Parts: sequence; C-alpha cells; structure tokens
Amino acid sequence: MSNCRIHENFEADFEKVLFDEEELQGIVHKISEEIKQDHRGEEIVLVVILKGSFIFAADLIRKLFPVCYVRVEFMQVSSYGDGAKSSGELKLFLDIKPKAVKGKKVIVIDDVVDTALTLSKIKKRIESLGAQQVQICALLDKEEAHKIDIQIEYKGKSILNEFVTGYGLDFGQKYRNCPYVGVLKKEVYEK
Ligand code: IMP
Repeated sequence: MSNCRIHENFEADFEKVLFDEEELQGIVHKISEEIKQDHRGEEIVLVVILKGSFIFAADLIRKLFPVCYVRVEFMQVSSYGDGAKSSGELKLFLDIKPKAVKGKKVIVIDDVVDTALTLSKIKKRIESLGAQQVQICALLDKEEAHKIDIQIEYKGKSILNEFVTGYGLDFGQKYRNCPYVGVLKKEVYEK
C-alpha cells in the first residue's frame, strides 16, 4: 500500500492568514502605482527571482501596463534548500545574460526579504553586468532579520520574523498555490 498522505484540505495546515487575496491585490496595486510614478513612459527590466516571486510578479507586471515598457528576465537562486532556515549560501541555478541588463534600468522582484543577503548579492551581480540602475522591489520584508543594510525602493509590507507561506512562497516546495499568505502550524514544520 502506498504511504502517500491523503489530505483533503491543506488549509488545515495553516495556523493563521496574514494577508488574504484582497489585501494582497491592494499591496500589489500600491507598489505598481509607485513604480509607474517613477518610471512613466520608460523601459524597465524586471528581474524576477524564482521561484517564490512568480505569482507576485505576474500580478505586478500586468498592473504596469500601459504606463511602462517592461522586459522580463528570470533568475533562480536558492538559500533555503527545502527547509525553513537559510543555509546562508547562495546557489545560482539560472542567471541572466549580461546584454539583458547592460545600460538598462532594472527592478529586482523578490517575494520576501529575510537576512537580505540574497538580494544584496543579486544586486551586486546585476550592477557588475553594467546595469544603469538597480532597484529592489519586495512584497514582504522581515526588517528585524536583516543582517546587512539594504535599500528596498518598493516594499509591500513589513512583517514579523516568522516563516510565511502561500502566494508563491513555499515550504518544502509546497503551498505555493495557496492564494493567501499565512503561517503554517508548528507541527507542519516539524513533520
Ligand atoms: P535572505 O537572503 O535571507 O533575505 O532570503 C531571502 C529568500 O529566502 C527569499 O527570496 C525566499 O525565497 C526565502 N525566504 C525567506 N523567508 C521566507 C519565508 O518566510 N517563506 C518562504 N521563503 C522565504
């Protein structure tokens, strides 16, 4: 017999909801207005950090139309492996081509800033490829967890230093398809 867990309602894995679908759309709208104000009529390159940012980026990009010309590039990095604690080491799985950002105004789109080490390394990498400007956009920010100073030009919400899941953010590659952002029950992390 298979030992697959039959689970009919993954919602029961969540302890609380931090931002529901409507709140998330409000946050994305606010960020899009700020970007449009700063980059009206300009061409910008959005570098989307996979995998956690893909849903946020998909919502944000459509809200920038028709005010900004948007190019989209992807980088895939990992500092968490499959767990809830940073390994501290940045692994680069997918990089961008230098010509995609050279001389361009770039906005890096990330899901959540924790220690800020990942974004700071990504920013340095894009600057070293000759970008004209590199700004940071993050849906969520765990300010208390920063280990390095970082300027986040476009920030959704500050949150407490707890592990959050949903709206693209995973725990062990799961829960990305949850439409809200929440905190899982302790026993789910400890399984
Ligand atoms: P940092 O380098 O510690 O700032 O880690 C940032 C990256 O770790 C994010 O882009 C996420 O991929 C991941 N991460 C950090 N905190 C969380 C969380 O609460 N839930 C899911 N992923 C997280």
